[in-house]
Amino acid sequence: MDALLAAARKGWENAVAGYSGFRVGAGLRAVVNGAPAIFSGCNIENATYGLTICAERVALFKALSEGAREFTDMIIYTTASEVTPPCGACRQLLWEFCGDIPVTARTAGGAEKTWRMAELLPHAFDRNSLA
Ligand code: THU
Repeated sequence: MDALLAAARKGWENAVAGYSGFRVGAGLRAVVNGAPAIFSGCNIENATYGLTICAERVALFKALSEGAREFTDMIIYTTASEVTPPCGACRQLLWEFCGDIPVTARTAGGAEKTWRMAELLPHAFDRNSLA
């Protein structure tokens, strides 16, 4: 199995989703000091609900905290019947830190769809907007 999908599935297994019961895993591929690296993420929920963080942002923050600044692609994995694209907050951060990478959503049943970030977040507000 592709290493990126394996990381997303590992994230799914580790999901802390006791409130919604909706587990999400993400795998993010990066280049760190010239070498390829893969980071996994899972959604993490808590009793306030609002402080929940998505699998995509956990993978991204893990990567950034390990020094990754160059990203190539992401896979999001669920057991839902339809593929689940990233939420709006994740789109903003993925766009800002990863740029126009391909993002693939995949289900346990094998459904799969890939988008470019520019498709998922057209007309983005980003650092260019502040120039
Ligand atoms: N969730 C993600 O992890 N990623 C998304 O892009 C959408 C939603 C999580 C947040 C929450 O724990 C659960 O899915 C239900 O919204």
